[in-house]
Amino acid sequence: MNATARGNDLGAVIAADRAHVWHHLIQHKPFETIDPRIMVEGRGMHVWDATGRDHLDAVSGGVWTVNVGYGRESIADAVRDQLVRLNYFANSAGSIPGARFAERLIATMPGLSRVYYSNSGSEANEKVFKMVRQISHRHHGGRKSKILYRERDYHGTTITALSAGGQPQRVAQYGPLTPGFVEVPHCLEYRAQWPGADYGRRAADAIEAVILREGPDTIGAICLEPVTAGGGVIVPPEGYWDRVQEICRKHDILIHIDEVVCGVGRTGTWFGYQHYGVKPDFVTMAKGVASGYAAIACTVTTEAVFEMFKDDPADPLSYFRDISTFGGCTAGPAAALENMRIIEDEGLLANTTAMGARLIENLRALQDRHAVIGDVRGKGLFCGAELVSDRATKEPVAERLAQAVVADCMAQGVIIGATNRSLPGFNNTLCLSPALIATPDDIDAITDAIDGALTRVFG
Ligand SMILES: Cc1ncc(COP(=O)(O)O)c(C=O)c1O
Repeated sequence: MNATARGNDLGAVIAADRAHVWHHLIQHKPFETIDPRIMVEGRGMHVWDATGRDHLDAVSGGVWTVNVGYGRESIADAVRDQLVRLNYFANSAGSIPGARFAERLIATMPGLSRVYYSNSGSEANEKVFKMVRQISHRHHGGRKSKILYRERDYHGTTITALSAGGQPQRVAQYGPLTPGFVEVPHCLEYRAQWPGADYGRRAADAIEAVILREGPDTIGAICLEPVTAGGGVIVPPEGYWDRVQEICRKHDILIHIDEVVCGVGRTGTWFGYQHYGVKPDFVTMAKGVASGYAAIACTVTTEAVFEMFKDDPADPLSYFRDISTFGGCTAGPAAALENMRIIEDEGLLANTTAMGARLIENLRALQDRHAVIGDVRGKGLFCGAELVSDRATKEPVAERLAQAVVADCMAQGVIIGATNRSLPGFNNTLCLSPALIATPDDIDAITDAIDGALTRVFG
């Protein structure tokens, strides 16, 4: 494949982009002298840019989304068939793919029963925040309205999702924020905040300390990523989730798990929380639900939560008075159904576990050879390598050096990620999340590229 074969006037496209498009999450000054990167085509694990360059994508579309890989015609066909039959109707009514996908999804989530559709991870999380606030008003006389979130976690880009954001560089300059959100400490054992053994229990106990300080009566819910993503790929320590759950039940605090990254296979189970025996009250998901073939996000709840919104039909304000216009687009659930079929029929959960183990093993081998790798962590095809300038002090490398590794890999034709403009002083973790279809050769090519990059950047 090359640019000419695609037959586009890419010079004009690049000019139009430079003149008119405001890209996400990037400083645009350099685009006054260099061209923005424009992606043109994808197949399997590979994407081609406007110069015709082939890239092996180790981050599933940059932000952990294209879980079943590029160029899936069966998803495109399912979406097309649905669009010509019925593209849209507001979700106050149901749709055929909406009902079918909800049923199929719920079959993978024992203990949960209701699916609320919207468009983005941020929005799915906002739905929970609104539900928790409404439960507080209707069932707790205004008490239990606060929501806990964790240092280093990210839950989205809107002002209220940022109010639950544990990444200071994502939040800075966007205040004033929504009140009623309270931070609890992160659980990254490599950067342990308390001495002693049994770190999982200690990190969870730190949450209870916040609850006791604020008053359990003021707190309605806790929002946590099962494995923290953009905050540095933090796999919770042994015993953490058991204790978190115990604490939440004790203080009558609802558990909201943000599966926007981990959901639908990324960690080798359907959902990240399923590794830890957690029984959530809310689960949110987006990115991988339809692998980016259509926009879809889901807020999933227990029947007990759902019941709280229909217990008093005589009260005109008692139900969940929320709408997401594009939550009624049928392309989302149509694509999501086919996405799930692919994961099942191609055995991609098992592949994720096997290839994730290989990725961790390869990264550990790199750690033996490169002193700059201080820590390797991950779950399934979701891995991180934390770079430090000194293993003894764990001094993080500067963000520009982590970015230099990313740039070197890009120059080799391999797209990897790194924590960026999120955590002051700690944007030093390389992030890897290849599609769930990755082969042993793909995994080895990714770690070979990192090997070369680390040698060039750090010697
Ligand atoms: C854990 C997590 N939650 C929520 C979001 C927000 O999702 P979206 O960008 O679809 O609003 C993200 C995005 O990266 C995320 O990583």
